Amino acid sequence: MKKIDIFDTTLRDGEQAPGATMNAKEKITLAKQLEKLNVDIIEAGFPIASPGDFDAVKTIAENIKGRTIAALARATSKDIETAARALEKAEKPRIHTFIATSPVHMKYKLRMEPEVVLERARQAVRLAKKYVDDVEFSAEDAGRSDLEFLYKVYAAAIEEGATVLNVPDTVGYKLPDEFGRFIKSIKQNTKGIEKAKISVHCHNDLGLAVANSIAAIQNGAEQVECTVNGVGERAGNAAMEELVMILKTRTDILGDYFTDINSKQFYNTSKMVETFTGFYIPKNKAIIGINAFKHESGIHQDGVLKERSTYEILKPEDIGVFGDNIVLGKHSGRHAFKVKVEEMGYNLEDSEIENLYKKFLKLADNLKEVKEQDIRAIIDGERTLV
Ligand code: KIV
Ligand code: ZN
Repeated sequence: MKKIDIFDTTLRDGEQAPGATMNAKEKITLAKQLEKLNVDIIEAGFPIASPGDFDAVKTIAENIKGRTIAALARATSKDIETAARALEKAEKPRIHTFIATSPVHMKYKLRMEPEVVLERARQAVRLAKKYVDDVEFSAEDAGRSDLEFLYKVYAAAIEEGATVLNVPDTVGYKLPDEFGRFIKSIKQNTKGIEKAKISVHCHNDLGLAVANSIAAIQNGAEQVECTVNGVGERAGNAAMEELVMILKTRTDILGDYFTDINSKQFYNTSKMVETFTGFYIPKNKAIIGINAFKHESGIHQDGVLKERSTYEILKPEDIGVFGDNIVLGKHSGRHAFKVKVEEMGYNLEDSEIENLYKKFLKLADNLKEVKEQDIRAIIDGERTLV
């Protein structure tokens, strides 16, 4: 069985989506939730981008232990030194440095010749290694880069000690079969590749980010970069919940691979990201949309009542969606409230429950029935205020 590392970039690439900005308290709250979800790597931000980003990475590095905390840096000394400072207190720090390698990016954006880009990549990894052991190198727009050039750039990064080589399909251009072969070629032709892990980072411009990530896994990628709800630049990044549930569901084909993700935390995490970013989840979104487990047509309802697997290939409880068995209103006691909150996947201290219960009672006074979404709003609102 091969473990696939889940690298969450909701706090970095996700937050880069126009309008998805999160405040400092929301970022640390989400980082704690990502810890519960059990992601392997949290990319906490891009410290050079702003003082707020720097502080968020620093706070997350100081408070979240037992996970790798990554910070993004362009291939410049100022970026790398700033990322290193933000990560100083991290238990497991990773500097993630990148430079573009596609002809279009090198010519128009960087205005650099390929040899210069190659040298900059080498220097960036060398400098990052002075601060941390774990250095990830990304060839931005790898998906549209020349393979022969990529072999050279990745080999140089490995020579300087890069531990992870990331292959971003930055503009979501590749097709699954093609991307699978692309990853295989990098694995077969890059000198020293056995010393590093291959990672992929797929964008969703053509709706193929998850399919491309799966194809990459089948061809040797050991780390996948993704975001909760697929939030991210333009059409977003590969959606973590889709990727993980595909691996869990299609074990007949993908049984060689597993992740350590606690999928029962998906629904909560998804709702938190929806609240914090203001990016509403479409009703029919795979895995976490509210219609994902609803059946309206008579034929489907009849089938599901007889046997769930007729129209359901996933169990709602596997992603943390539970039946609405306990109906809450103003007569509900603390115990029922606590059970409900736990049923919804939250694991809170008694003092937090007590505080939330008082808020719940105030709300219940004005409503016939308090729905799950109301309870979630109380809890998530409270969490951002701590
Ligand atoms: O999409 C991209 O290429 C990126 C890199 C910085 C990894 O986000
Ligand atoms: Zn990206």
